[in-house]
Amino acid sequence: MEKRRKNGGTVTDQGSQASTGNNLDPWYFNYAERTSGLAASEVRALFAVASRPEVVSLAGGMPYVSALPQDILNGTLEKVMRERGPVALQYGSGQGHERLREQIMEVMALEGISGSPGDVVITTGSQHALELFSKLFIDPGDVVLSEGPSYVTAMVIFKSYQAQVEHVPMDEHGLIPEALSEHIARLKAAGKRIKFLYTIPTFHNPAGVTLSEERRPEILRIARENNILVLEDNPYGLLYFGKKGPDALRAQEEEGVVYLGTFSKTLAPGFRVGWALAPHAIREKLILANEAAVLSPSSFSQLVISEYLEQADWRGQIDTFRGVYRERKETMLSALAEYLPELSWTDPAGGFYVWLTLPEGLDSKAMLPRAVRELVAYTPGTAFYADGQGGRNMRLSFCYPTPEQIRVGIRRLSTVINGEQDLLDTFAGTGPLDHPSSRRDYSAPPPDIN
Ligand SMILES: Cc1ncc(COP(=O)(O)O)c(C=O)c1O
Repeated sequence: MEKRRKNGGTVTDQGSQASTGNNLDPWYFNYAERTSGLAASEVRALFAVASRPEVVSLAGGMPYVSALPQDILNGTLEKVMRERGPVALQYGSGQGHERLREQIMEVMALEGISGSPGDVVITTGSQHALELFSKLFIDPGDVVLSEGPSYVTAMVIFKSYQAQVEHVPMDEHGLIPEALSEHIARLKAAGKRIKFLYTIPTFHNPAGVTLSEERRPEILRIARENNILVLEDNPYGLLYFGKKGPDALRAQEEEGVVYLGTFSKTLAPGFRVGWALAPHAIREKLILANEAAVLSPSSFSQLVISEYLEQADWRGQIDTFRGVYRERKETMLSALAEYLPELSWTDPAGGFYVWLTLPEGLDSKAMLPRAVRELVAYTPGTAFYADGQGGRNMRLSFCYPTPEQIRVGIRRLSTVINGEQDLLDTFAGTGPLDHPSSRRDYSAPPPDIN
């Protein structure tokens, strides 16, 4: 019997594959086709090394939860258990707690969004909203448009539903409307079915750029005219460093936008509480999909967050986070200017990430083992593309390490980059320094990389 192999070829008998010794998993041939996108990233093992304390990791997207008011959170937990224990410990509604959904409307109002708490669906982090949305909309072979680069773990999901991810370029003002129109026209002419545009318009992960005020209506108009749904992912919008960023896309358009939010970056990811705000019909399907997947999101986490929003100065806490991240970003940019002045990088107005461009000829993925040996880690740019682009880029996160560690990390990084540049200069013209396999995939990194 002929059976498709995950690497695209076919085998005529299962035993022959096993006898080649390539396959140590006895269930290799039983996995669904869609799991072929669920390969562990080639750099995963390196990141295990990079999590050692002596390594400065500029790789992860972990919020600095130590800046949270521990005593207030302890009090909140204690109060929830004392006063509402039986509710907190019980299953809840598939849509999420009503009071928390009302409070989420207050959070979203800060970014210009209005609507009904009845259209909010609470999920297990916004990551799970991405999963549910993909389950509802993607058939194998459908096209998902996204910025290039884009959030790695969203692409892992899209791939797992067998979507074709098509990147639309950005510049310092975010997604380029003309490029979006061109991509849509080309894909339509090729008979492709475009399901949605996945976008992180504000303080982009990984690019650190923000879609300008002027371009927002333009992007929405193009999507509307082409009947393309917009999936707006906005975990970082409230974490601005100076003036507030532009209002969310959802503030301008209700029917054509599904908006995703989360408490992971403004409170703590450990609660695993995010949400989707969707037009009625989509909301109904999201609730059903949520129930099918988890029955109900964690009652305990929802009640604790609801109590926290009720009692604590959560706006003040977000302001504290802004101050922490602003200082770290400034430290990173001044260290880059000092140690790597000839390179270019983005200057984010909020969020967690700087996107660095290396000189021609250097490859961030090939260089990573050398960087880890010098005790600094970053995420190679190829992780953020579905098609192997990004070899000359890397994402640097300033959210978690202290300013002192950031300076040390950038100094170490400069040693590595300058060393690579020296090698390149010395051996210029004698062939590539890296192996072609280093330009592959964007498959699943460890969860703390996100
Ligand atoms: C762009 C983007 N979307 C979604 C997520 C997932 O966040 P959550 O913790 O809410 O699942 C992240 C986390 O880093 C992110 O950067």
